[in-house]
Amino acid sequence: MNYLQLEHKVILVTGASSGIGAKTAVMLTQYGAKLLITGRDKTRLDEIYNQLEGNGHQTYVGDLTIDENLSDLISICPSLDGIVHCAGIIKPFPVKFITQKQISEMFKINFEVAIQLTSSLLKKKKINDFASIVFMSSVSSQFAHKGGALYSASKAAINSFSRSLAIECASKKIRSNVISAAMVKTPIFDQAETAVTSEVMLLHEKDYPLGFGNTDDVGNAILFLLSNVSKWITGTIITMDGGLTAGQ
Ligand SMILES: NC(=O)c1ccc[n+]([C@@H]2O[C@H](COP(=O)([O-])OP(=O)(O)OC[C@H]3O[C@@H](n4cnc5c(N)ncnc54)[C@H](OP(=O)(O)O)[C@@H]3O)[C@@H](O)[C@H]2O)c1
Repeated sequence: MNYLQLEHKVILVTGASSGIGAKTAVMLTQYGAKLLITGRDKTRLDEIYNQLEGNGHQTYVGDLTIDENLSDLISICPSLDGIVHCAGIIKPFPVKFITQKQISEMFKINFEVAIQLTSSLLKKKKINDFASIVFMSSVSSQFAHKGGALYSASKAAINSFSRSLAIECASKKIRSNVISAAMVKTPIFDQAETAVTSEVMLLHEKDYPLGFGNTDDVGNAILFLLSNVSKWITGTIITMDGGLTAGQ
């Protein structure tokens, strides 16, 4: 039996051309959801589109930090039963080298786009009652690492926003939750491995009692949060870190 029952649910997944968003999109359609998926890279987004099961899915290609693109996406968006906010970037900046440009770049896609999208869709009544909204955040929003100040702050802002959204939307049974993940093997992981070395990453993995995460580990939690099975869960931050922070 398909206990998640995502059939007939219409879901927007941003950042679906890569990593966690891509895997989650494919998994959602295996449970019957209809998707609108977004990304900047058309070739990679089309590849994911071709892996989706079922019919009636849509794609939107564009940089969501450009206001016109965000407006276009909002206008083509059908009424939604779920949103997965996966679009995001990670770039390390030591505090003394932070510039206004870097602050804007990091906060625009990691925070503002998710907020503007959610707010506009609510205003246009494109988020159905009983919908579920999931934001991708990071354990670095709660546990500091050197060079992570800007990224961590952008994700901490998401954590707070989601909790307020949860209480504002509860009367319509619209839920909002955050997944706070540690290292998941995606292109972001590959970047980190290039920036340091694979030996450093292997050493880092020893701090994870269950090892680094895979995209389907996160995808499974997102599926759960989008399904009615989690209908009593809102305003939470679910930590997924293979035990990394359990002893901290
Ligand atoms: N991987 C991890 O270890 C980890 C841990 C904690 C949290 N997270 C969070 O999880 C989310 C997904 O991460 P990931 O590892 O799957 O990353 P990823 O593989 O690099 O994918 C990022 C996605 O965001 C899209 N994107 C980035 N900038 C965009 C923009 N300006 N406009 C539209 N789309 C944009 C990318 O589109 P294109 O590729 O088409 O350009 C891509 O689809 C991010 O928010 C990240 O912060 C990741």
